Amino acid sequence: MDADKAYQEAIRHGRYSEQVQGLRCKYDHVRIHFEDFITSYYLRPYLEDMVKLKVNKNGEGLRFYDLGCGTGDGYELLSKMARQARLSQFDTRLIQDDMMDQYKGIDLSIELLKEAENLFGDYEHVNFCKGDFSNGLPVEEGEDGYDLYFTSYGTLSHCNNEELEKLFVDIGKHAQNGSLVLADFLGRYSYEWQNLWTHDPEEVTYMDYVINYLYQEEEREQVELSSFPMRLMTPEEVFRILERAARKAGVQLKVLRFFDRSLFVGRHIETGTYNGNAQPLRLMVSSLFERGLRTYFPDLKVNYIPREGFDWQNESLQKLADSWNALVDYTMVLMEHYDSDEELLPYPPQTDVKPLEKAYRVMRQSLEGSRGLYGDIRADLIEAQLGYAIRSLEMNLQQGHGLGHGLVGIIQIVK
Ligand SMILES: C[S@@+](CC[C@H](N)C(=O)[O-])C[C@H]1O[C@@H](n2cnc3c(N)ncnc32)[C@H](O)[C@@H]1O
Repeated sequence: MDADKAYQEAIRHGRYSEQVQGLRCKYDHVRIHFEDFITSYYLRPYLEDMVKLKVNKNGEGLRFYDLGCGTGDGYELLSKMARQARLSQFDTRLIQDDMMDQYKGIDLSIELLKEAENLFGDYEHVNFCKGDFSNGLPVEEGEDGYDLYFTSYGTLSHCNNEELEKLFVDIGKHAQNGSLVLADFLGRYSYEWQNLWTHDPEEVTYMDYVINYLYQEEEREQVELSSFPMRLMTPEEVFRILERAARKAGVQLKVLRFFDRSLFVGRHIETGTYNGNAQPLRLMVSSLFERGLRTYFPDLKVNYIPREGFDWQNESLQKLADSWNALVDYTMVLMEHYDSDEELLPYPPQTDVKPLEKAYRVMRQSLEGSRGLYGDIRADLIEAQLGYAIRSLEMNLQQGHGLGHGLVGIIQIVK
Protein backbone atom coordinates (compact mmCIF):
# COMPACT_ATOMS: atom_id res chain seq x y z
CA MET A 1 0.00 0.00 0.00
CA ASP A 2 1.36 3.47 -0.95
CA ALA A 3 0.71 5.07 2.45
CA ASP A 4 2.44 2.22 4.31
CA LYS A 5 5.48 2.54 2.01
CA ALA A 6 5.62 6.29 2.58
CA TYR A 7 5.43 5.92 6.38
CA GLN A 8 8.18 3.24 6.22
CA GLU A 9 10.42 5.67 4.33
CA ALA A 10 9.77 8.30 6.98
CA ILE A 11 10.57 5.82 9.77
CA ARG A 12 13.81 4.77 8.02
CA HIS A 13 14.78 8.40 7.78
CA GLY A 14 14.69 8.42 11.55
CA ARG A 15 12.68 11.49 12.43
CA TYR A 16 9.19 10.02 12.24
CA SER A 17 9.07 7.53 15.09
CA GLU A 18 11.98 8.87 17.14
CA GLN A 19 10.81 10.51 20.36
CA VAL A 20 12.99 13.57 19.90
CA GLN A 21 11.69 17.08 20.26
CA GLY A 22 13.02 20.24 18.70
CA LEU A 23 12.87 22.28 15.58
CA ARG A 24 12.37 19.94 12.63
CA CYS A 25 11.09 16.48 13.51
CA LYS A 26 7.78 14.77 14.09
CA TYR A 27 7.56 16.05 17.66
CA ASP A 28 8.64 19.61 16.96
CA HIS A 29 7.49 22.43 19.22
CA VAL A 30 4.52 23.24 16.99
CA ARG A 31 3.21 19.70 17.35
CA ILE A 32 3.56 19.84 21.12
CA HIS A 33 2.65 23.44 21.94
CA PHE A 34 0.17 24.14 19.14
CA GLU A 35 -1.31 21.01 17.66
CA ASP A 36 -1.53 18.59 20.58
CA PHE A 37 -2.56 21.47 22.80
CA ILE A 38 -5.35 22.61 20.45
CA THR A 39 -6.78 19.10 20.02
CA SER A 40 -6.71 18.59 23.80
CA TYR A 41 -8.22 22.04 24.43
CA TYR A 42 -11.33 21.36 22.34
CA LEU A 43 -11.73 17.76 23.48
CA ARG A 44 -11.18 18.40 27.17
CA PRO A 45 -14.63 19.75 28.20
CA TYR A 46 -16.35 16.68 26.76
CA LEU A 47 -13.90 14.30 28.42
CA GLU A 48 -14.27 16.18 31.70
CA ASP A 49 -18.01 15.53 31.56
CA MET A 50 -17.36 11.87 30.81
CA VAL A 51 -14.96 11.57 33.74
CA LYS A 52 -17.54 13.14 36.09
CA LEU A 53 -20.22 10.78 34.83
CA LYS A 54 -17.99 7.74 35.28
CA VAL A 55 -16.90 8.77 38.78
CA ASN A 56 -20.57 8.97 39.75
CA LYS A 57 -21.07 5.46 38.38
CA ASN A 58 -18.89 3.72 40.99
CA GLY A 59 -15.58 4.74 39.48
CA GLU A 60 -15.97 2.95 36.15
CA GLY A 61 -13.08 3.88 33.79
CA LEU A 62 -12.91 5.20 30.24
CA ARG A 63 -12.34 3.16 27.09
CA PHE A 64 -10.41 4.63 24.14
CA TYR A 65 -9.95 3.32 20.62
CA ASP A 66 -7.18 5.00 18.59
CA LEU A 67 -7.57 4.37 14.85
CA GLY A 68 -4.30 4.82 12.94
CA CYS A 69 -2.44 5.03 16.25
CA GLY A 70 1.08 5.14 14.73
CA THR A 71 3.53 4.94 17.63
CA GLY A 72 0.76 5.35 20.21
CA ASP A 73 0.61 9.14 20.03
CA GLY A 74 -3.05 9.09 21.03
CA TYR A 75 -2.19 7.37 24.29
CA GLU A 76 0.43 10.01 24.99
CA LEU A 77 -2.06 12.81 24.31
CA LEU A 78 -5.00 11.35 26.21
CA SER A 79 -3.08 10.17 29.26
CA LYS A 80 -1.28 13.50 29.62
CA MET A 81 -4.29 15.71 28.95
CA ALA A 82 -4.44 18.38 31.61
CA ARG A 83 -7.48 19.53 33.55
CA GLN A 84 -7.92 23.12 34.74
CA ALA A 85 -5.53 23.22 37.69
CA ARG A 86 -4.35 25.79 40.22
CA LEU A 87 -0.71 26.83 40.18
CA SER A 88 -0.02 25.10 43.46
CA GLN A 89 -1.36 21.76 42.22
CA PHE A 90 1.25 19.32 40.97
CA ASP A 91 -0.58 16.52 39.19
CA THR A 92 -2.74 18.08 36.47
CA ARG A 93 -3.78 14.94 34.60
CA LEU A 94 -7.46 14.76 33.74
CA ILE A 95 -7.48 11.00 33.33
CA GLN A 96 -5.68 9.32 36.19
CA ASP A 97 -4.37 5.76 35.64
CA ASP A 98 -7.27 4.19 37.48
CA MET A 99 -9.73 6.07 35.23
CA MET A 100 -8.37 4.47 32.04
CA ASP A 101 -9.89 1.03 31.63
CA GLN A 102 -8.66 0.42 28.12
CA TYR A 103 -6.67 2.04 25.36
CA LYS A 104 -6.63 0.07 22.10
CA GLY A 105 -4.55 1.28 19.17
CA ILE A 106 -4.64 -0.14 15.66
CA ASP A 107 -2.50 0.67 12.65
CA LEU A 108 -1.55 -0.82 9.30
CA SER A 109 2.16 -0.27 9.85
CA ILE A 110 3.95 -3.07 11.69
CA GLU A 111 7.03 -0.84 12.17
CA LEU A 112 5.02 1.88 13.92
CA LEU A 113 3.20 -0.69 16.04
CA LYS A 114 6.55 -2.15 17.17
CA GLU A 115 7.64 1.29 18.31
CA ALA A 116 4.29 1.78 20.06
CA GLU A 117 4.82 -1.56 21.86
CA ASN A 118 8.30 -0.48 22.94
CA LEU A 119 6.97 2.74 24.38
CA PHE A 120 3.70 1.77 25.99
CA GLY A 121 3.25 -2.00 25.54
CA ASP A 122 4.06 -2.75 29.20
CA TYR A 123 1.11 -0.77 30.50
CA GLU A 124 -1.60 -3.03 31.76
CA HIS A 125 -4.59 -1.38 30.10
CA VAL A 126 -2.90 -0.66 26.74
CA ASN A 127 -2.89 -2.87 23.69
CA PHE A 128 -1.85 -2.45 20.08
CA CYS A 129 -2.69 -4.62 17.10
CA LYS A 130 -2.60 -4.54 13.35
CA GLY A 131 -5.91 -3.44 11.88
CA ASP A 132 -7.32 -1.79 8.78
CA PHE A 133 -10.14 0.75 9.16
CA SER A 134 -10.71 1.10 5.42
CA ASN A 135 -13.05 -1.93 5.55
CA GLY A 136 -15.04 -0.68 8.52
CA LEU A 137 -14.31 -0.67 12.23
CA PRO A 138 -12.02 -3.55 13.24
CA VAL A 139 -13.64 -5.07 16.34
CA GLU A 140 -13.93 -8.58 17.74
CA GLU A 141 -17.24 -10.32 18.28
CA GLY A 142 -18.66 -9.11 21.59
CA GLU A 143 -16.06 -6.34 22.07
CA ASP A 144 -17.50 -3.61 24.29
CA GLY A 145 -18.13 -0.12 22.93
CA TYR A 146 -15.63 2.71 23.52
CA ASP A 147 -16.15 6.13 25.08
CA LEU A 148 -13.94 7.76 22.48
CA TYR A 149 -13.05 6.69 18.93
CA PHE A 150 -9.95 8.78 18.40
CA THR A 151 -8.01 9.74 15.26
CA SER A 152 -5.26 12.31 14.83
CA TYR A 153 -3.31 14.35 12.30
CA GLY A 154 -5.41 13.84 9.21
CA THR A 155 -5.76 10.07 9.68
CA LEU A 156 -9.33 9.93 8.32
CA SER A 157 -8.19 11.58 5.09
CA HIS A 158 -6.70 8.19 4.20
CA CYS A 159 -10.28 7.05 3.44
CA ASN A 160 -12.54 7.74 0.49
CA ASN A 161 -16.22 8.61 0.96
CA GLU A 162 -17.47 5.03 0.87
CA GLU A 163 -14.87 3.89 3.39
CA LEU A 164 -15.69 6.79 5.70
CA GLU A 165 -19.39 6.09 5.49
CA LYS A 166 -18.87 2.41 6.36
CA LEU A 167 -16.54 3.34 9.24
CA PHE A 168 -19.09 5.77 10.71
CA VAL A 169 -21.93 3.26 10.29
CA ASP A 170 -19.87 0.68 12.21
CA ILE A 171 -18.90 3.15 14.92
CA GLY A 172 -22.53 4.28 15.21
CA LYS A 173 -23.60 0.68 15.80
CA HIS A 174 -20.68 -0.29 18.05
CA ALA A 175 -20.61 2.79 20.31
CA GLN A 176 -22.78 3.36 23.35
CA ASN A 177 -25.10 6.32 23.74
CA GLY A 178 -23.00 9.44 24.37
CA SER A 179 -19.72 8.07 22.96
CA LEU A 180 -17.55 10.52 21.02
CA VAL A 181 -15.57 10.42 17.79
CA LEU A 182 -12.64 12.74 17.24
CA ALA A 183 -12.58 12.83 13.45
CA ASP A 184 -9.35 14.30 12.11
CA PHE A 185 -9.13 15.21 8.37
CA LEU A 186 -6.94 17.40 6.19
CA GLY A 187 -8.60 20.78 5.55
CA ARG A 188 -9.52 21.48 1.95
CA TYR A 189 -8.45 25.12 1.92
CA SER A 190 -5.20 25.06 3.85
CA TYR A 191 -2.79 27.75 2.60
CA GLU A 192 -0.09 25.05 2.47
CA TRP A 193 -1.78 23.52 -0.57
CA GLN A 194 -3.27 26.62 -2.17
CA ASN A 195 -2.38 25.24 -5.65
CA LEU A 196 -4.90 22.45 -5.04
CA TRP A 197 -7.87 24.67 -4.12
CA THR A 198 -10.78 24.06 -6.46
CA HIS A 199 -13.77 26.18 -7.34
CA ASP A 200 -16.33 23.40 -7.44
CA PRO A 201 -17.48 22.63 -3.88
CA GLU A 202 -19.09 19.42 -5.15
CA GLU A 203 -15.81 18.09 -6.49
CA VAL A 204 -14.18 15.45 -4.27
CA THR A 205 -10.52 16.43 -3.91
CA TYR A 206 -7.49 14.33 -3.12
CA MET A 207 -3.88 15.31 -2.84
CA ASP A 208 -0.78 13.23 -3.47
CA TYR A 209 0.66 13.53 0.00
CA VAL A 210 4.40 13.29 0.47
CA ILE A 211 6.18 13.22 3.83
CA ASN A 212 9.10 15.40 2.76
CA TYR A 213 8.80 17.99 5.51
CA LEU A 214 11.18 16.16 7.85
CA TYR A 215 14.07 16.83 5.46
CA GLN A 216 16.24 19.93 5.17
CA GLU A 217 15.53 22.00 2.06
CA GLU A 218 18.65 20.74 0.21
CA GLU A 219 17.93 17.10 1.11
CA ARG A 220 14.34 17.41 -0.06
CA GLU A 221 15.39 17.86 -3.66
CA GLN A 222 17.67 14.84 -3.66
CA VAL A 223 15.49 12.15 -2.08
CA GLU A 224 12.83 10.31 -4.00
CA LEU A 225 9.81 9.73 -1.83
CA SER A 226 6.55 7.83 -2.26
CA SER A 227 3.29 9.71 -2.17
CA PHE A 228 -0.21 8.53 -1.30
CA PRO A 229 -3.71 9.95 -1.82
CA MET A 230 -5.29 11.96 0.99
CA ARG A 231 -8.85 13.31 0.92
CA LEU A 232 -9.20 17.08 1.43
CA MET A 233 -12.31 18.02 3.39
CA THR A 234 -14.78 20.77 4.18
CA PRO A 235 -17.26 20.51 7.06
CA GLU A 236 -20.13 20.33 4.53
CA GLU A 237 -18.62 17.20 3.01
CA VAL A 238 -18.22 15.61 6.44
CA PHE A 239 -21.84 16.47 7.29
CA ARG A 240 -23.08 14.73 4.15
CA ILE A 241 -21.14 11.54 4.96
CA LEU A 242 -22.37 11.59 8.55
CA GLU A 243 -25.97 12.06 7.47
CA ARG A 244 -25.87 8.97 5.26
CA ALA A 245 -24.01 6.92 7.89
CA ALA A 246 -26.43 7.94 10.66
CA ARG A 247 -29.42 6.89 8.55
CA LYS A 248 -27.88 3.49 7.83
CA ALA A 249 -26.81 2.90 11.44
CA GLY A 250 -30.14 4.10 12.85
CA VAL A 251 -28.43 6.54 15.25
CA GLN A 252 -27.80 10.26 15.46
CA LEU A 253 -24.25 11.42 14.67
CA LYS A 254 -24.29 14.87 16.21
CA VAL A 255 -21.47 17.27 15.38
CA LEU A 256 -20.59 19.09 18.60
CA ARG A 257 -18.02 21.28 16.89
CA PHE A 258 -15.53 21.63 14.08
CA PHE A 259 -12.21 23.38 14.42
CA ASP A 260 -9.34 24.26 12.08
CA ARG A 261 -5.88 23.43 13.38
CA SER A 262 -2.62 24.92 12.02
CA LEU A 263 -3.66 27.61 9.53
CA PHE A 264 -0.15 28.99 8.90
CA VAL A 265 1.99 26.39 10.65
CA GLY A 266 1.00 23.11 8.98
CA ARG A 267 3.72 20.67 7.98
CA HIS A 268 3.79 21.78 4.35
CA ILE A 269 3.84 25.55 4.93
CA GLU A 270 7.56 25.53 4.17
CA THR A 271 8.05 22.78 1.61
CA GLY A 272 6.60 24.65 -1.37
CA THR A 273 5.34 21.30 -2.69
CA TYR A 274 1.76 22.50 -3.02
CA ASN A 275 2.14 26.29 -2.82
CA GLY A 276 4.95 28.21 -4.48
CA ASN A 277 4.55 31.05 -1.95
CA ALA A 278 5.58 28.85 0.96
CA GLN A 279 7.47 30.39 3.88
CA PRO A 280 9.25 28.55 6.74
CA LEU A 281 6.68 29.70 9.27
CA ARG A 282 6.47 26.40 11.13
CA LEU A 283 10.20 26.46 11.75
CA MET A 284 10.06 30.09 12.90
CA VAL A 285 7.19 29.43 15.31
CA SER A 286 8.93 26.30 16.59
CA SER A 287 12.01 28.44 17.20
CA LEU A 288 9.94 30.70 19.49
CA PHE A 289 9.61 27.77 21.88
CA GLU A 290 13.25 26.64 21.72
CA ARG A 291 15.01 27.55 24.96
CA GLY A 292 18.15 29.59 24.61
CA LEU A 293 17.54 30.42 20.96
CA ARG A 294 16.49 33.85 19.70
CA THR A 295 14.24 34.04 16.64
CA TYR A 296 14.67 36.51 13.78
CA PHE A 297 11.29 38.29 13.99
CA PRO A 298 11.07 39.74 10.46
CA ASP A 299 10.96 36.13 9.14
CA LEU A 300 8.11 35.36 11.48
CA LYS A 301 5.70 37.56 9.54
CA VAL A 302 3.15 36.05 7.16
CA ASN A 303 3.26 37.21 3.57
CA TYR A 304 -0.20 35.97 2.59
CA ILE A 305 -0.67 35.89 -1.19
CA PRO A 306 -4.39 35.68 -2.01
CA ARG A 307 -5.71 33.38 -4.71
CA GLU A 308 -8.15 35.00 -7.11
CA GLY A 309 -11.71 33.73 -6.98
CA PHE A 310 -11.57 32.42 -3.40
CA ASP A 311 -13.01 35.43 -1.58
CA TRP A 312 -14.10 34.01 1.79
CA GLN A 313 -10.93 31.94 2.11
CA ASN A 314 -8.71 34.95 1.30
CA GLU A 315 -10.65 37.22 3.64
CA SER A 316 -10.33 34.86 6.65
CA LEU A 317 -6.69 34.01 6.07
CA GLN A 318 -5.75 37.66 5.42
CA LYS A 319 -7.44 38.69 8.67
CA LEU A 320 -5.38 36.16 10.59
CA ALA A 321 -2.19 37.18 8.75
CA ASP A 322 -2.83 40.88 9.53
CA SER A 323 -3.38 40.24 13.24
CA TRP A 324 -0.38 37.91 13.44
CA ASN A 325 1.88 40.49 11.72
CA ALA A 326 0.58 43.38 13.82
CA LEU A 327 1.40 41.40 16.97
CA VAL A 328 4.95 40.62 15.78
CA ASP A 329 5.46 44.31 14.89
CA TYR A 330 4.18 45.48 18.27
CA THR A 331 6.43 43.00 20.09
CA MET A 332 9.45 44.35 18.19
CA VAL A 333 8.48 47.91 19.17
CA LEU A 334 8.09 46.83 22.81
CA MET A 335 11.56 45.24 22.79
CA GLU A 336 13.16 48.39 21.37
CA HIS A 337 11.56 50.54 24.08
CA TYR A 338 12.53 48.01 26.74
CA ASP A 339 16.16 48.30 25.60
CA SER A 340 16.06 52.08 25.81
CA ASP A 341 15.21 51.76 29.53
CA GLU A 342 12.06 53.84 29.16
CA GLU A 343 9.86 53.50 32.22
CA LEU A 344 6.63 53.23 30.30
CA LEU A 345 6.33 50.79 27.42
CA PRO A 346 4.15 51.99 24.51
CA TYR A 347 0.46 51.13 24.57
CA PRO A 348 -0.77 48.92 21.70
CA PRO A 349 -2.53 50.29 18.62
CA GLN A 350 -6.34 50.39 18.66
CA THR A 351 -8.00 47.31 17.23
CA ASP A 352 -11.50 45.87 16.90
CA VAL A 353 -10.12 42.34 16.76
CA LYS A 354 -10.69 41.07 20.31
CA PRO A 355 -8.15 38.19 20.26
CA LEU A 356 -5.50 40.61 18.98
CA GLU A 357 -6.38 43.14 21.70
CA LYS A 358 -5.78 40.47 24.33
CA ALA A 359 -2.55 39.27 22.67
CA TYR A 360 -1.20 42.85 22.63
CA ARG A 361 -2.01 43.20 26.34
CA VAL A 362 -0.29 39.92 27.21
CA MET A 363 2.89 40.86 25.33
CA ARG A 364 3.09 44.27 27.00
CA GLN A 365 2.50 42.71 30.42
CA SER A 366 5.15 40.04 29.75
CA LEU A 367 7.82 42.61 28.89
CA GLU A 368 6.88 44.87 31.77
CA GLY A 369 6.94 42.03 34.26
CA SER A 370 10.21 40.59 33.00
CA ARG A 371 12.54 43.39 34.11
CA GLY A 372 15.23 42.01 36.40
CA LEU A 373 14.42 38.34 35.86
CA TYR A 374 17.11 35.66 35.41
CA GLY A 375 18.26 34.12 32.14
CA ASP A 376 17.84 35.10 28.50
CA ILE A 377 14.53 36.87 28.95
CA ARG A 378 13.90 37.20 25.23
CA ALA A 379 14.67 33.59 24.23
CA ASP A 380 13.04 31.88 27.19
CA LEU A 381 10.18 34.10 28.19
CA ILE A 382 9.16 36.77 25.69
CA GLU A 383 9.41 34.49 22.66
CA ALA A 384 7.48 31.68 24.34
CA GLN A 385 4.73 34.16 25.26
CA LEU A 386 4.65 35.37 21.67
CA GLY A 387 4.33 31.73 20.56
CA TYR A 388 1.31 31.25 22.84
CA ALA A 389 -0.16 34.58 21.72
CA ILE A 390 0.11 33.55 18.05
CA ARG A 391 -1.47 30.22 18.94
CA SER A 392 -4.34 32.06 20.54
CA LEU A 393 -4.83 34.10 17.34
CA GLU A 394 -4.86 30.88 15.28
CA MET A 395 -7.45 29.39 17.63
CA ASN A 396 -9.72 32.39 17.95
CA LEU A 397 -9.68 33.59 14.35
CA GLN A 398 -10.84 30.29 12.85
CA GLN A 399 -14.32 28.83 12.55
CA GLY A 400 -13.70 25.23 11.53
CA HIS A 401 -14.30 25.85 7.81
CA GLY A 402 -11.44 23.71 6.46
CA LEU A 403 -8.82 26.49 6.33
CA GLY A 404 -6.20 24.66 8.41
CA HIS A 405 -3.91 21.69 7.86
CA GLY A 406 -6.31 19.81 10.13
CA LEU A 407 -10.09 19.98 10.01
CA VAL A 408 -11.29 18.25 13.15
CA GLY A 409 -14.83 17.31 14.13
CA ILE A 410 -16.01 16.24 17.55
CA ILE A 411 -19.00 14.00 17.01
CA GLN A 412 -21.37 12.45 19.53
CA ILE A 413 -23.31 9.25 19.01
CA VAL A 414 -26.88 9.57 20.23
CA LYS A 415 -28.96 6.40 20.49
C1 LIG B 1 -1.34 10.82 9.85
S1 LIG B 1 -0.74 9.38 10.56
C2 LIG B 1 -1.13 9.62 12.24
C3 LIG B 1 -0.28 8.79 13.15
C4 LIG B 1 -0.47 9.07 14.63
N1 LIG B 1 -1.83 8.81 15.07
C5 LIG B 1 -0.06 10.46 15.02
O1 LIG B 1 -0.78 11.11 15.77
O2 LIG B 1 1.02 10.89 14.64
C6 LIG B 1 -1.92 8.20 9.99
C7 LIG B 1 -1.71 6.80 10.53
O3 LIG B 1 -2.78 5.98 10.03
C8 LIG B 1 -2.28 4.73 9.60
N2 LIG B 1 -3.22 4.23 8.58
C9 LIG B 1 -3.44 4.69 7.33
N3 LIG B 1 -4.40 4.00 6.73
C10 LIG B 1 -4.83 3.07 7.61
C11 LIG B 1 -5.82 2.07 7.59
N4 LIG B 1 -6.58 1.87 6.51
N5 LIG B 1 -5.99 1.30 8.68
C12 LIG B 1 -5.22 1.47 9.78
N6 LIG B 1 -4.26 2.42 9.86
C13 LIG B 1 -4.06 3.21 8.80
C14 LIG B 1 -0.88 5.04 9.08
O4 LIG B 1 -0.04 3.91 9.08
C15 LIG B 1 -0.42 6.13 10.07
O5 LIG B 1 0.23 5.60 11.17
